Amino acid sequence: AKGPDVSVEDAGFPQVRPRRLRSSAAMRELVAEYRVRPADLVLPVFAREGIDRPVPVSSMPGVVQHTPDSLRRAAAEAAEAGVRGIMLFGVPEHKDAVGSAGTDPDGVLQRAIRDVRSETGDTLVIMSDLCLDEFTDHGHCGVLDERGAVDNDATLARYAEMALVQAEAGADVLGPSGMMDGQVGHVRRALDAAGRTDVAMLAYTAKYASAFYGPFREAVNSSLTGDRKSYQQDPANGREALRELELDLAEGADMVMVKPGMPYLDVLRRVADAVTVPVAAYQISGEYAMVEAAAEKGWIERERAIDETLLCFKRAGADLVLTYWATEAARRLGR
Ligand code: PBG
Repeated sequence: AKGPDVSVEDAGFPQVRPRRLRSSAAMRELVAEYRVRPADLVLPVFAREGIDRPVPVSSMPGVVQHTPDSLRRAAAEAAEAGVRGIMLFGVPEHKDAVGSAGTDPDGVLQRAIRDVRSETGDTLVIMSDLCLDEFTDHGHCGVLDERGAVDNDATLARYAEMALVQAEAGADVLGPSGMMDGQVGHVRRALDAAGRTDVAMLAYTAKYASAFYGPFREAVNSSLTGDRKSYQQDPANGREALRELELDLAEGADMVMVKPGMPYLDVLRRVADAVTVPVAAYQISGEYAMVEAAAEKGWIERERAIDETLLCFKRAGADLVLTYWATEAARRLGR
C-alpha cells in the first residue's frame, strides 16, 4: 500500500529528533547516563616470589609479575590516579599438592598485602585472591581426592586457613574465586569465629569456565593441565548465575562479582537487577589481551576501545570494575 501523500516538510516529520542531544561533545557529556570514575576501578596485580626485577607477562603487554618494590610503586601510582582498590594475586616459588604457600603467614601473597598496606595506608582497599590455584603444583583451585578430583569440602578447610592468614596480613576484602560450594559461608564463619567480623568478602558469584583466562595462566605460572569445568560455571547457563547469587548472599557475601566481563554482560545485568549489594565485573586477562593485540596491529583505536569497554560494564550494571587498565584509565578519566 502507498503511504500518505505528504512531503517530509509538510508533516514536520520527524518531530522527535534524538540527534539533537548528540550534537556536541558538551551536550553528549551533559546527557550521559553512565560515567566511569577512577574510584570505580580496581587494579588486579601479580606479586611473584624470588625475582629481582619485574617479569613481563608476554600475553598481556604492559602487565608484569611484580617484585616487592615494583608492587609498591604500582600500588602508589594506582592510588595517586584515584583508583580505590587493588586485587592481589601471589605467585610462589614453590608449589605443592595442598598449596602450602597460600597459608604460610610469610608467603608471597601475605607479604604483598603488608607491602601494599605500608605503601598506601588506607587509600586503597586491599583485596586478596582467596584460591589455591596459584599455589598448587597441579594448578587446580582446590585440593584433590585420591581419584584426582577436586575435593570440595577438604578445599573449604584450606580456604578457611587462607582467609585467616590473609586477614592477619591486613586484607580488607577477601575474594574467594575457586567456585567451591559453600565457600563464602565457610570462610565467613571461620573469620567470625576468629573475631574478624571486620573483613569483607567479594564473592566471585558467577564465575564461568572460560577460554578467556588463558593469559592469566601465564601470569601466575599455572601448571594446570585440563580444565576447571567441574567447578566453574558452564557458559551455556544464565539462570544458574542467579542460583549462585542466592547462595552467596545467604552465606554472607558483602559484594558480588561476575566474571569474565564482556562476554557475560547479560549475566551482569541480571545479577545487578536482582541485588541490593554492590556488583563488580572482572575484565579478565583474555579481554585485555584481545584489545591490546588488535590495537598493536592497528585494527582498533586502543584508548577509545578501552574506555568503551569500561563504560559498557557500568551500563550493564556494575558498580566496580576490576581491570588491568585501572591506573591508565583512571589517569585519563581523572582529567
Ligand atoms: C583463580 C582465578 C583466575 C582468575 C582470577 N582468579 C583463573 C582461573 O579461574 O582459571 C582469572 C583472571 C584473569 O583471567 O584475568 N584464582
